[in-house]
Amino acid sequence: MANEHTIRELSHEDRTFDPPPDFAAQANVTAEEYTKAEEDRIGFWAEKAQRISWETPFDEVLDWSEAPFAKWYIGGKLNAAYNCVDRHVEAGLGDRVAYYFEGEGGDTRVITYADLQREVSKTANALVELGVKAGDRVALYMPMIPETVFAMLACARIGAPHTVIFGGFSDRAIADRVEDCGVEIVITADGGYRRGKTNALKATVDKALQDLPQVRNVVVVQRTGQEVNWDDDRDIWWHDLVDRQSETHDLEFFDAEHPLYIMYSSGTTGKPKGIMHTTGGYLVGTSYTHWAVFDIKPETDIFWTAADIGWVTGHSYIVYGPLANGTTSVLYEGTPDTPHRGRWWEIVEKYGVTVLYCAPTSIRTFMRWGRDIPAKYDMSTLRLLGSVGEPINPEAWMWYREHIGGNNCPIVDTWWQTENGSILISPLPGVTSTKPGAAMRALPGIVADIYDEQGQPVEPGSGGYLVITEPWPAMLRTLWGDEERYKKTYWSQYPGVYFAGDGAKYDRDGDIWVLGRVDDVLNVSGHRMSTAEIESALVAHSMVAEAAVVGAQDETTGQAIEAFVILRESAKDRDDAVQQLRDHVRASIGPIATPRAIMVVPDLPKTRSGKIMRRLLKDVAENREIGDVTTLADASVMDAIQEEMRARQ
Ligand code: WTA
Repeated sequence: MANEHTIRELSHEDRTFDPPPDFAAQANVTAEEYTKAEEDRIGFWAEKAQRISWETPFDEVLDWSEAPFAKWYIGGKLNAAYNCVDRHVEAGLGDRVAYYFEGEGGDTRVITYADLQREVSKTANALVELGVKAGDRVALYMPMIPETVFAMLACARIGAPHTVIFGGFSDRAIADRVEDCGVEIVITADGGYRRGKTNALKATVDKALQDLPQVRNVVVVQRTGQEVNWDDDRDIWWHDLVDRQSETHDLEFFDAEHPLYIMYSSGTTGKPKGIMHTTGGYLVGTSYTHWAVFDIKPETDIFWTAADIGWVTGHSYIVYGPLANGTTSVLYEGTPDTPHRGRWWEIVEKYGVTVLYCAPTSIRTFMRWGRDIPAKYDMSTLRLLGSVGEPINPEAWMWYREHIGGNNCPIVDTWWQTENGSILISPLPGVTSTKPGAAMRALPGIVADIYDEQGQPVEPGSGGYLVITEPWPAMLRTLWGDEERYKKTYWSQYPGVYFAGDGAKYDRDGDIWVLGRVDDVLNVSGHRMSTAEIESALVAHSMVAEAAVVGAQDETTGQAIEAFVILRESAKDRDDAVQQLRDHVRASIGPIATPRAIMVVPDLPKTRSGKIMRRLLKDVAENREIGDVTTLADASVMDAIQEEMRARQ
């Protein structure tokens, strides 16, 4: 196994919380669901597929004959947008609210399922007018506004896979993705609101597309009204294009395995991976898990995933899962402290949010701001809380339970990845006695295990590598344009078994604790970035000879980026080197990749084969005793680095 990390030990957690009896009594899912799935996993997923509407029924549930390339629901035909929108309108639910949109500045929009049907149809017609056909890729670089959802569903409706690029990424990230998946149409906005200011999205797209003439059109939503540059041949305002379209659009149905979207995610090398999801299995997976894990009652729940649509959490639990289930969701554009630190709780109170799903990094931020802030709001409507994106520390879990959930809401700590498409490991809120910090066990229909280096399942009380041993409907199908990398990244450590890249442990009761990445992937505020990506950005700067990046523990963001750089001779006297490099990383990848600290060092610790020993740098970054240096080519390097550190303090 190519990693130098050891699995962090965890003390045993004795606190357990049973589901409140009244919650358990009304829960969608009971313990029998596990038994049912264990007795006949394929039959279980055949039954769950009935949650979705198929134009042509499938004749086979799973074809795993060309593993690891899976096919689910073979022969079935469906349309994802029809499943998320039209069928609810046809069922008489057109007046049900799909989204309560809350802009950062306080502007609001209420979008019903009937509205959604009109808007998605108009947008689909607009894309057709631009010449988009089934199979063409469309890139979105958008703020968190309803048009983002309209655009995604319009793509799905015409069978054009979307690739949504997180609005915080740089022009370089856009260019890489546009190029990698051969995008010809980009949808963006003039800007969005963040922290009370506007951020320029169109300008970033302009920069990204400078050398990419393959992009025929850029469709621009007017959100902030800020100044934008305009290319008359290429750029079109959304309102000029979409508003004049017909409100109806004839549906076409696609194969269950038709690509639905590509989402880029960081891997262990610098180049992001284009994770490809297809239609049928993904919709079944997101719809079922949204219903089972969040105990969704579409008639009464107000569901809020406080995440960005530009991440998989937003795709699966703001857009596809909730809409497939006909749910009412909150869509919030902005940050939690604009214009004040009670903004989230104000939103919970205003809309009567019943289920809240967010990341531990947010919870830790709220803890820092203090319990008095949420205490000012009436949050009695909340009945269930979820967490996602990184391990949640027991203190944060307890705080969430007490100060947000009023000690009365089950907490579901949901483990999954962009690759997984839907939640795989999580408590079931009406069934599981939860433990603060544990994702507990695989959901019904999912088979997870923890292996040692040799590929043997570990015993309760021990740790190892998290694996999924059977295929599941919402799994990625491949990496865009790179089947070899798909096989190598996920299916080669243990043949035939999905390797997640996370360390995990069974506690004495056999429950799963996910401990975090074992590869060179960082998790900053729940956002995945690779050390290699940031290192490449640093080395691309003319001042830098060599760079190593590590993730150091950080109370708020989970991990923070710390960089160690060797400067070129010519740059050695520059006082402003650190600031310049920080700005450079920020500009090349995006603000979330900005290092917390950049240390200029004389040399980097390497093994004899030349591999940088990041774990030693991590010890430095986390202010710990330096670990074992015996495999270093030159052990004095660490002394020199430490001396440098001391000189600085
Ligand atoms: C981490 C986000 C512990 C994990 C949906 C995984 C978690 C990576 C949890 C995927 C959790 C996600 N407990 N760790 N509940 N949820 N992770 O692709 O390291 O952005 O591999 O998907 O986040 O991040 P991604």
